[in-house]
Amino acid sequence: MSVLGVESVVYGVDDLAATTRFYEDFGLRLVSRDETGAEFDLPEGSRIVLRAAGDPALPPPFAEGPGAREIVWGVDSAASRDAIASDLGADRNVTRDADGTVHTHDDVGIPIGFRVFARKSIPGEATVENAPGDVKRWNAHRRWYPRAQPKIIHHTVFGVSDVDAAVAFYVERLGFRISDISRGLGVFLRADGRNDHHNLFFLKSPRLAWHHVSFGVDNIDELMTGADHMQRKGWSSDIGIGRHRISSTIFYYIRNPAGGAAEYSADTDYLTDEWQPRLWNPIFGNFHWVGTLPPVLAREPEWDVRLLEQPIPKFSTL
Ligand SMILES: [Fe+2]
Repeated sequence: MSVLGVESVVYGVDDLAATTRFYEDFGLRLVSRDETGAEFDLPEGSRIVLRAAGDPALPPPFAEGPGAREIVWGVDSAASRDAIASDLGADRNVTRDADGTVHTHDDVGIPIGFRVFARKSIPGEATVENAPGDVKRWNAHRRWYPRAQPKIIHHTVFGVSDVDAAVAFYVERLGFRISDISRGLGVFLRADGRNDHHNLFFLKSPRLAWHHVSFGVDNIDELMTGADHMQRKGWSSDIGIGRHRISSTIFYYIRNPAGGAAEYSADTDYLTDEWQPRLWNPIFGNFHWVGTLPPVLAREPEWDVRLLEQPIPKFSTL
């Protein structure tokens, strides 16, 4: 079995015009639009699908307010899709579209689907950095980005009341790996067919909630080109640019009229199964540096990270 990451995020939205404009400004390619919805795609072949909130074809909302209604996970083959459908069909309702896409829900109530995903590789261009004493780029300037064009859907994030139940489902039923745990805050998970630090994060929350979707861009220049463009178009960020210590990801979150936030992310860590998951103090892990210092960082957090013991204990016991 191999889950290749998020194939599509399907939203139910209140304002189709505004949400379509948001994702166009964000840099996604608009593939189709009519009065019922809009669809965007990314270079890897993943998609963002916007549908009117009242569309009867959508799963009912799993959380308050606008947001994602379903996450469709891409899988490597029809055999993997069918194996997942057969396994999950043992203890929940599973339906199937004419094209073979499978729909069901996870153990915390989030609607999920599975579709064969011919994920395209991204033609990468090395970012060559100069530093004092380490000059790699001679007689050449950095690449200039006229606009950001996110390449991949990197991860999705949900608030859940029972983090252990959510983690157990994705690890035991779908083969996800735990990358790291932020003490009291949440658990980072990586799909078995991906190497990005995380493709899913469950945040401890009083109730089930949609939080954000993150899109991978080439580097800090493409990220800031996107951030500048979004600012000029009137879309705002609460804390601006920063870098997480957990995952090393450079982030820029923008409030999304489709619900939650959309994040540009760059320079994330990539992991293999050799990786040893760590336990982090949440504030220490969340911020290495950040554009607008949140009140919680009035004092520099103390160094606080260690390897997790094996087998990895439950989140709620740490
Ligand atoms: Fe994120």
